Amino acid sequence: MKKLLVILVTFFFLTTIMLIYFFVFKGKVAATADNGRVVIELTQGNADFALDEMRAFLVSVQQINEGILNKNIEQIEKAAKKSGGLVIDHAPKGMMASLPIGFKKLGFATHDLFDEIADSIPVNKNFSQTHSQLGKLLNNCVTCHKAYRIQVVLE
Ligand code: HEC
Repeated sequence: MKKLLVILVTFFFLTTIMLIYFFVFKGKVAATADNGRVVIELTQGNADFALDEMRAFLVSVQQINEGILNKNIEQIEKAAKKSGGLVIDHAPKGMMASLPIGFKKLGFATHDLFDEIADSIPVNKNFSQTHSQLGKLLNNCVTCHKAYRIQVVLE
């Protein structure tokens, strides 16, 4: 009886660890692509969401850059907020489980940097600070694009 309990507890423990591994850490990734990037497999809906977000990132970056040139606090704040952490709340169900941990970390850090820009410019009114924050942000874009690729798979 005791032995059975130990076996059951071990079984549930291992299953939990495996589930955490697959849904939090690994994501749905395929063999590494030819140029060394990890391929993330997403359903059409999830890929559309991710790429829409990317194009919005680019618009935000362009608007923040223009805001720095125009010395326009409102333009910077508005553009940065658009790509801040709030966007994550709208992610489709199940999408997070498809993303490997490294991607999620970089993704969250990028949204945080946009929030940082939106929060600091109205307070500090310091455009060169925004400029260096933007530089940090662009490094994240480059790092992630070097490491990952998206591939649409059937549901
Ligand atoms: C966490 C990872 C990650 C970060 C951070 C990231 N991207 Fe991406 N982005 C990707 C991946 C993956 C793709 C798909 C590339 C592919 O499949 O070849 C992509 C695609 C894009 C595309 C193409 C969209 C389309 O419709 O095909 C644009 C534009 C883009 N990213 C802009 C940006 C900008 C600007 C930033 C920084 C502010 C950024 N991305 C940050 C992972 C990231």
